[in-house]
Amino acid sequence: MLFKSLNLSIDADRLLGRIRELGQIGRDDDSALTRLAASEADKAGRNALVDWMKDAGLEIAVDRIGNVFGIWRGSDNGDHAPILVGSHIDTVINAGIYDGCYGVLAGVEVIETLRSAGFVPSRPIAVAAFTNEEGVRYAPDMMGSLVFAGGLSVEEALATVGTDGTLLGAELERIGYAGAEEPGFLQPHAYVELHIEQGPVLEREGIPIGAVENLQGISWQRVTIEGVANHAGTTPMAMRHDAGHAAARVMTFLRDRVSGSNAPTVATVGCINFEPNAINVIPSRATFTVDLRDPDEMRLKNEETALADYLIELASAEGVSISVEQLARFEPVIFDNTIVELVEQAAKQRGLSSKRMTSGAGHDAQMIARICPAAMIFVPSAHGISHNPREYTSGPELVNGANILLDVVGKLAGLD
Ligand code: GLV
Ligand code: MN
Ligand code: MN
Repeated sequence: MLFKSLNLSIDADRLLGRIRELGQIGRDDDSALTRLAASEADKAGRNALVDWMKDAGLEIAVDRIGNVFGIWRGSDNGDHAPILVGSHIDTVINAGIYDGCYGVLAGVEVIETLRSAGFVPSRPIAVAAFTNEEGVRYAPDMMGSLVFAGGLSVEEALATVGTDGTLLGAELERIGYAGAEEPGFLQPHAYVELHIEQGPVLEREGIPIGAVENLQGISWQRVTIEGVANHAGTTPMAMRHDAGHAAARVMTFLRDRVSGSNAPTVATVGCINFEPNAINVIPSRATFTVDLRDPDEMRLKNEETALADYLIELASAEGVSISVEQLARFEPVIFDNTIVELVEQAAKQRGLSSKRMTSGAGHDAQMIARICPAAMIFVPSAHGISHNPREYTSGPELVNGANILLDVVGKLAGLD
């Protein structure tokens, strides 16, 4: 497909100003940014986003899982499937300001730019902010887009119990974002998600644009180890059934196994809890999470099996019992090559180098790829840091990415 860019640029000050402004919503007393899905902070972030969507002249729609859409109908009379862009605005705990928010706000920006330049697309262009992409409060992650794509029923998703004991459905009602639309009410023609890389590759190689061609598989599990509480001073080491020690062994098993192989597998234990959690009591229970990822489904399965085998061996060696709950499981995804090529061509047209790459992070695009051609655009992350307040991408790099999104959307909507 021959590529001609639109000879148009997004409004850098407007986009960067909104990213900064949204980044101030949901700060706690220590100024840490935490905007967990369906929280009070998320409500405030959503309200700001809806205001900006309205400023851009978009029609607002909210579906039953709380996904927010800003829709520009163009000259469509209901016959054409929309080009969908977007991402999420929920965050992890003590987050940076770019993860997800960049893609949503750049989507609004792209539409606003096209509108004010006088373009009228024959198919709608819509921007989505999907509910609970991070999965910190409610598992699985990418929940809003998963439901939207038909991979999880809305009833099941709304009944999810959060880490704080809340029900997602009740929380969405409370914050005013339990919408009326059935998830999937829009069936996209194509989906493009712009995101910060959240890893070190683009910065290290001095490349401004990532053309993301695939995304690795994700396995989330919660492991519970039951041992026996006993006195820390009187119980001989050989007589212990120490759930805490068993948990530590799992952590080192994962780390040693993954680091010792040449495969790109990654493994993380991000949450851990001991009971009774007292200095002088051997833990009777340890609960922790395992996040395993690999771009290859067979390898990911092998890692899951290796962990399961190790847990059986460990239970017998330590005299503890171990149970496992699967919290999320997503296979690797290969994105649509035609859109990936459009990203490469758009970058070339603007004199920017690009690189095909794999996403290490999970994204809504992974779910939407189930229902339409989808791909992603990455921009560099300083020092490869994300899920951390030090997450940073410079203004010019963010603007580059948004302009590539503009060109790709323009192409997909037939505006060039
Ligand atoms: C989402 O941010 C994930 O990759 O965990
Ligand atoms: Mn994200
Ligand atoms: Mn994230």
